[in-house]
Amino acid sequence: MNKVPLLSCIALTLFLLANGAPTLPPPPTVLQYLLRDLIKVQDKLQNVSERMKKYELHIPSNTSSMADLQCFTKELTPVAGALKYESKAQTIQEYINNINETVNSLTGTETTQCHYATKMKIEGFFKEFVSFSQKLRALTQ
Ligand SMILES: *[C@@H]1O[C@H](CO)[C@@H](O)[C@H](O)[C@H]1NC(C)=O
Ligand SMILES: *[C@@H]1O[C@H](CO)[C@@H](O)[C@H](O)[C@H]1NC(C)=O
Ligand SMILES: *[C@@H]1O[C@H](CO)[C@@H](O)[C@H](O)[C@H]1NC(C)=O
Repeated sequence: MNKVPLLSCIALTLFLLANGAPTLPPPPTVLQYLLRDLIKVQDKLQNVSERMKKYELHIPSNTSSMADLQCFTKELTPVAGALKYESKAQTIQEYINNINETVNSLTGTETTQCHYATKMKIEGFFKEFVSFSQKLRALTQ
Protein backbone atom coordinates (compact mmCIF):
# COMPACT_ATOMS: atom_id res chain seq x y z
CA MET A 1 0.00 0.00 0.00
CA ASN A 2 1.20 3.43 -0.87
CA LYS A 3 0.71 5.90 1.95
CA VAL A 4 1.57 9.04 0.05
CA PRO A 5 -1.85 9.73 -1.49
CA LEU A 6 -3.52 9.40 1.91
CA LEU A 7 -1.03 11.78 3.49
CA SER A 8 -1.47 14.35 0.78
CA CYS A 9 -5.21 14.01 1.17
CA ILE A 10 -4.88 14.78 4.89
CA ALA A 11 -2.60 17.69 4.06
CA LEU A 12 -5.13 19.06 1.59
CA THR A 13 -7.92 18.74 4.13
CA LEU A 14 -5.87 20.57 6.74
CA PHE A 15 -5.02 23.21 4.16
CA LEU A 16 -8.69 23.71 3.34
CA LEU A 17 -9.59 23.92 7.02
CA ALA A 18 -6.89 26.50 7.64
CA ASN A 19 -7.59 28.61 4.56
CA GLY A 20 -11.18 29.73 4.63
CA ALA A 21 -13.57 26.86 5.09
CA PRO A 22 -16.28 26.90 2.42
CA THR A 23 -19.09 27.06 4.97
CA LEU A 24 -19.45 30.26 6.93
CA PRO A 25 -20.47 30.18 10.60
CA PRO A 26 -24.06 31.30 11.28
CA PRO A 27 -24.74 35.07 11.25
CA PRO A 28 -24.85 35.58 15.06
CA THR A 29 -21.35 34.07 15.29
CA VAL A 30 -20.06 36.18 12.41
CA LEU A 31 -21.59 39.27 14.02
CA GLN A 32 -19.76 38.31 17.19
CA TYR A 33 -16.44 38.37 15.26
CA LEU A 34 -17.42 41.73 13.84
CA LEU A 35 -18.15 43.13 17.29
CA ARG A 36 -14.86 41.81 18.63
CA ASP A 37 -12.95 43.68 15.90
CA LEU A 38 -15.05 46.83 16.31
CA ILE A 39 -14.32 46.90 20.03
CA LYS A 40 -10.59 46.47 19.29
CA VAL A 41 -10.75 49.49 17.01
CA GLN A 42 -12.58 51.54 19.65
CA ASP A 43 -9.89 50.58 22.11
CA LYS A 44 -7.09 51.60 19.75
CA LEU A 45 -8.76 54.87 18.81
CA GLN A 46 -7.92 56.10 22.30
CA ASN A 47 -4.29 56.29 21.18
CA VAL A 48 -4.68 58.14 17.90
CA SER A 49 -3.65 61.75 17.33
CA GLU A 50 -5.94 64.68 18.12
CA ARG A 51 -6.17 65.31 14.39
CA MET A 52 -7.51 61.79 13.84
CA LYS A 53 -9.93 62.08 16.78
CA LYS A 54 -11.50 65.06 15.06
CA TYR A 55 -11.93 63.16 11.80
CA GLU A 56 -15.62 63.12 10.89
CA LEU A 57 -17.59 60.40 9.15
CA HIS A 58 -21.12 60.19 7.83
CA ILE A 59 -23.54 58.23 9.97
CA PRO A 60 -25.93 55.98 8.03
CA SER A 61 -29.56 56.65 8.81
CA ASN A 62 -32.58 54.35 8.70
CA THR A 63 -30.48 51.25 8.99
CA SER A 64 -32.51 48.12 9.56
CA SER A 65 -31.17 45.07 7.74
CA MET A 66 -27.89 43.18 7.48
CA ALA A 67 -27.18 44.75 4.07
CA ASP A 68 -27.06 48.17 5.74
CA LEU A 69 -23.78 47.16 7.40
CA GLN A 70 -22.24 48.13 4.07
CA CYS A 71 -23.28 51.73 4.70
CA PHE A 72 -20.81 51.76 7.57
CA THR A 73 -17.94 50.01 5.79
CA LYS A 74 -18.28 52.30 2.76
CA GLU A 75 -17.23 55.11 5.05
CA LEU A 76 -14.09 53.29 6.11
CA THR A 77 -12.02 53.62 2.94
CA PRO A 78 -10.82 57.21 3.60
CA VAL A 79 -10.33 56.36 7.27
CA ALA A 80 -8.01 53.50 6.43
CA GLY A 81 -5.94 55.96 4.37
CA ALA A 82 -5.77 58.56 7.13
CA LEU A 83 -4.83 55.96 9.73
CA LYS A 84 -1.65 55.12 7.83
CA TYR A 85 -0.02 58.06 9.59
CA GLU A 86 -0.90 56.92 13.09
CA SER A 87 2.29 55.54 14.60
CA LYS A 88 0.62 54.52 17.88
CA ALA A 89 -2.22 52.63 16.27
CA GLN A 90 -0.52 50.59 13.56
CA THR A 91 -2.68 47.48 13.79
CA ILE A 92 -5.89 49.48 13.54
CA GLN A 93 -5.79 49.03 9.75
CA GLU A 94 -5.71 45.26 10.05
CA TYR A 95 -8.84 45.36 12.16
CA ILE A 96 -10.53 47.65 9.65
CA ASN A 97 -9.67 45.21 6.85
CA ASN A 98 -11.09 42.36 8.93
CA ILE A 99 -14.25 44.34 9.61
CA ASN A 100 -14.66 45.03 5.92
CA GLU A 101 -14.19 41.39 4.97
CA THR A 102 -16.56 40.21 7.66
CA VAL A 103 -19.24 42.60 6.48
CA ASN A 104 -18.63 41.56 2.86
CA SER A 105 -19.14 37.93 3.87
CA LEU A 106 -22.43 38.80 5.57
CA THR A 107 -23.89 41.02 2.88
CA GLY A 108 -22.48 39.50 -0.29
CA THR A 109 -21.54 41.66 -3.24
CA GLU A 110 -24.94 43.18 -3.84
CA THR A 111 -24.80 46.85 -3.00
CA THR A 112 -27.39 48.52 -0.88
CA GLN A 113 -28.82 52.02 -1.02
CA CYS A 114 -27.41 54.14 1.79
CA HIS A 115 -28.73 57.31 3.39
CA TYR A 116 -26.59 59.49 5.56
CA ALA A 117 -28.13 62.04 7.87
CA THR A 118 -25.36 63.40 10.07
CA LYS A 119 -21.65 63.46 10.61
CA MET A 120 -19.87 62.43 13.76
CA LYS A 121 -16.33 62.23 14.97
CA ILE A 122 -14.67 58.86 14.47
CA GLU A 123 -15.38 57.68 18.02
CA GLY A 124 -19.10 58.38 17.62
CA PHE A 125 -19.13 56.62 14.27
CA PHE A 126 -17.74 53.40 15.77
CA LYS A 127 -20.18 53.66 18.65
CA GLU A 128 -23.06 53.73 16.14
CA PHE A 129 -21.48 50.86 14.19
CA VAL A 130 -21.25 48.78 17.38
CA SER A 131 -24.82 49.44 18.46
CA PHE A 132 -26.20 48.61 15.02
CA SER A 133 -24.20 45.34 14.98
CA GLN A 134 -25.49 44.49 18.45
CA LYS A 135 -29.04 45.15 17.29
CA LEU A 136 -28.54 42.81 14.30
CA ARG A 137 -27.06 40.13 16.52
CA ALA A 138 -30.07 40.33 18.83
CA LEU A 139 -32.40 40.09 15.82
CA THR A 140 -30.65 37.04 14.34
CA GLN A 141 -30.42 35.08 17.57
C1 LIG B 1 -1.84 53.06 23.96
O1 LIG B 1 -0.51 53.54 24.13
C2 LIG B 1 0.09 53.12 25.34
C3 LIG B 1 1.43 53.82 25.44
O2 LIG B 1 2.14 53.79 24.24
C4 LIG B 1 0.22 51.60 25.34
O3 LIG B 1 0.78 51.14 26.53
C5 LIG B 1 -1.19 50.99 25.19
O4 LIG B 1 -1.10 49.59 25.10
C6 LIG B 1 -1.86 51.54 23.96
N1 LIG B 1 -3.24 51.07 23.92
C7 LIG B 1 -3.76 50.42 22.87
C8 LIG B 1 -5.19 50.04 23.02
O5 LIG B 1 -3.13 50.17 21.85
C1 LIG C 1 -13.83 46.81 1.50
O1 LIG C 1 -14.14 45.81 0.55
C2 LIG C 1 -14.55 46.33 -0.69
C3 LIG C 1 -14.97 45.14 -1.55
O2 LIG C 1 -13.99 44.16 -1.63
C4 LIG C 1 -13.41 47.15 -1.29
O3 LIG C 1 -13.82 47.68 -2.53
C5 LIG C 1 -13.05 48.28 -0.32
O4 LIG C 1 -11.94 49.00 -0.81
C6 LIG C 1 -12.70 47.71 1.04
N1 LIG C 1 -12.52 48.81 1.97
C7 LIG C 1 -11.55 48.84 2.87
C8 LIG C 1 -11.54 50.02 3.79
O5 LIG C 1 -10.69 47.98 2.95
C1 LIG D 1 -35.77 57.77 7.46
O1 LIG D 1 -36.97 57.35 8.07
C2 LIG D 1 -37.83 58.42 8.46
C3 LIG D 1 -38.96 57.85 9.26
O2 LIG D 1 -39.37 56.60 8.76
C4 LIG D 1 -38.26 59.18 7.21
O3 LIG D 1 -39.08 60.26 7.59
C5 LIG D 1 -37.04 59.72 6.50
O4 LIG D 1 -37.40 60.32 5.29
C6 LIG D 1 -36.06 58.59 6.21
N1 LIG D 1 -34.83 59.19 5.71
C7 LIG D 1 -34.17 58.72 4.65
C8 LIG D 1 -32.95 59.47 4.29
O5 LIG D 1 -34.54 57.75 4.02
